[in-house]
Amino acid sequence: MNDDIFSFRSIGTIYSPHKEISSIPIQPVFCNDIEGSIVLESEYTDGLRGLEGFSHIYLFYYFHESGKVCLQLKPYLSDQEQGIFASRAPHRPNKLGMSLVRLVNIENNVLHVKDIDILDGTPLFDIKPYIQRFDSRENVRSGWQDTIPDDIAISRGAREYKAEEM
Ligand SMILES: C[S@@+](CC[C@H](N)C(=O)[O-])C[C@H]1O[C@@H](n2cnc3c(N)ncnc32)[C@H](O)[C@@H]1O
Repeated sequence: MNDDIFSFRSIGTIYSPHKEISSIPIQPVFCNDIEGSIVLESEYTDGLRGLEGFSHIYLFYYFHESGKVCLQLKPYLSDQEQGIFASRAPHRPNKLGMSLVRLVNIENNVLHVKDIDILDGTPLFDIKPYIQRFDSRENVRSGWQDTIPDDIAISRGAREYKAEEM
């Protein structure tokens, strides 16, 4: 047995209006109000207890439509190559995605969210609450991201997403 190989089973599916990876905004912060839902396998419904009290949740998921792995690439916001681990690009060795989305409400095993930057039909690995006490930081450096002006970040980050495509 290989002790560096692990198998994951998806615990649900993420649904969104995003049908084409090339036009999805690159982060939830550029996806104002875009709605999506997460359908959790019903066997995990008990695990949602208490989650309704959180305004934001992290979704961990599989970039299932990312075919290649690139250790260095030009991230969407940069014209310079960066290492994959200095980026949020999907072409990572384990293709793990993480999005911080707004939780609107929960109905049984279905979570309704906003600000979703994830392709429709994406397999879900995990959900965790955003906890300000644990997750908020001060005196932050953001490496090459700090060199990108806000207006460029907004225009590139939103990509061609148009509300009427929903
Ligand atoms: C830059 S990644 C960031 C995703 C996430 N917020 C993160 O930080 O891990 C966002 C891009 O991933 C791509 N994407 C989203 N869902 C995907 C999926 N299931 N398979 C492949 N690519 C996906 C889209 O092109 C989207 O614009």
